[in-house]
Amino acid sequence: MYDFNKNTLPKLFKEGASKEDWEARRQEILELMQKEMYGYTPKEKCRVEAEVLEEKSEFAGKALLGRVKLTCTFGSVSFSFPVTYAFPVKNEISPVFVHINFRPLMPDQYMPAEEIIDGGFGFAQICYKDIVNDNLNGDFSDGLGLAYFNGRGRNEDDWGKVGMWAYALSRTIDYLETRKEVDKKHIMAIGHSRLGKTSLWAGAQDERIYATFVNDSGAGGSAITRDKEGEHIHHFAKSGMWDWFGERYKSWANREDEMPFDQHFAIALIAPRLVCVGSAENDTWADPKSEKLGCEIAGEVWALYGKDGLTEKCDEEFENAYLSGCVGYQVRTGDHYLSRTDWIRYMKFAKMHIETDA
Ligand code: GCU
Repeated sequence: MYDFNKNTLPKLFKEGASKEDWEARRQEILELMQKEMYGYTPKEKCRVEAEVLEEKSEFAGKALLGRVKLTCTFGSVSFSFPVTYAFPVKNEISPVFVHINFRPLMPDQYMPAEEIIDGGFGFAQICYKDIVNDNLNGDFSDGLGLAYFNGRGRNEDDWGKVGMWAYALSRTIDYLETRKEVDKKHIMAIGHSRLGKTSLWAGAQDERIYATFVNDSGAGGSAITRDKEGEHIHHFAKSGMWDWFGERYKSWANREDEMPFDQHFAIALIAPRLVCVGSAENDTWADPKSEKLGCEIAGEVWALYGKDGLTEKCDEEFENAYLSGCVGYQVRTGDHYLSRTDWIRYMKFAKMHIETDA
């Protein structure tokens, strides 16, 4: 039994708040989380230019597979990264998962590509290290990191790597919006672990994202930080992983009880859109209980829109999957990984909601 006292958490909104009150509060929370945790995302308009590198028929003719190089320019900053995409040919337009992955190109690990296509979905995949390296300890010496900082040190307001990865995810959406194969109303974001922290932050900021999938994201992701098992902010600080976030986040190490926010705030920023969080039973470092708690509490915001947050109704097909509300949650057996099982559940979540919306 989990006996964490929810009343000790910072409140999402005041009692009696309306949907309009929440929308103003949402802007405050976006500001607060940029200031205290993620650093500020640049506000300038970004121009995205695309150079298609190749396109061919793949998966026994079931999909059009392509690679494109995106060059993104805002102010004096310019950076490029490749995107691999595939769209099912059987559909005129398809919902698309934008997957920020650990691997380049299209590996079988972390993504059952053919099954996604067979499910009627397209995907666009970007590799996080193509945006900025993950060398830890504040190494911003390549990609967007180099282009943005140009060798200068970070100041307290500057963004971190999670912010940069999430930014590239949004620029990928800019490109997808130009493609005729894409169902623009149903563009989704997905990531695992540090990249689950990233998909969450992308979904929190970018209102074009229809559904956000946050897999095994743990601390700094969907897990409530206070009283969680496993990882805490001081671990990020000690291990050099603090550069995933803004500099101020470090100052909350060992003072988590005093933070004016916790991760239910990040999940709530997605409302009234869809979010689905996944955990793995053995992943005590991320902590499934705290990941679920984040969903339960954030769900209160959806009620302001007359929608269900996290429901208690378990899916008929899958064990420990709560997919019917706008906040989904599923936990599967096994270890820290973005597995085929997770994808199958996420596809079910997407399908069910797309069908109900239609
Ligand atoms: C480490 C880190 C986690 C992170 C994970 C990953 O375990 O402590 O915060 O989510 O790596 O990205 O695989």
